[in-house]
Amino acid sequence: MSKTNKDISKRIRDDHLHMKTAIRDIRKLIKEEVKPESFTPWIKNLQKILSYFNTEIHEHFELEEDGGFMDDVLKLKPQKKYAVSQLKTEHELMSTDLRRIIKCVDEAGTYDEIKKINLTQRIRDFLDLLSVHEAEENLLLEDLYLQDDGIAD
Ligand SMILES: [Fe+2]
Ligand SMILES: [Fe+2]
Repeated sequence: MSKTNKDISKRIRDDHLHMKTAIRDIRKLIKEEVKPESFTPWIKNLQKILSYFNTEIHEHFELEEDGGFMDDVLKLKPQKKYAVSQLKTEHELMSTDLRRIIKCVDEAGTYDEIKKINLTQRIRDFLDLLSVHEAEENLLLEDLYLQDDGIAD
């Protein structure tokens, strides 16, 4: 891996750490018990946090796809071709999913217990997939680093 790609690799890992904190914060927020009178501020807070997160993950996915990381995996670990295509598919799935979730949050309107349960479950599913996805990428990154460090230039 080139020096530049090592830097990108570090940025991706830093992003992952940062996103872990964001994921924890979102999980905490959706776990909160919400009374009808506090539904509006709660949903506004969720709206804000998810819209920020949306920007963040798009930049992150772009960096992973176009920054050289996935190309390096294909070059150095061609046997991981399927894993890379799976990761890209998941990027698309998660982008669509989050966009739909945000639309639901935007249109949430007034308090409704069932609506809240369904919405928080969808967010939980999204975060679960994202966490597994990031863990998979961390393993690939680790794998690339180890291989690279073992090779003398
Ligand atoms: Fe990713
Ligand atoms: Fe990632």
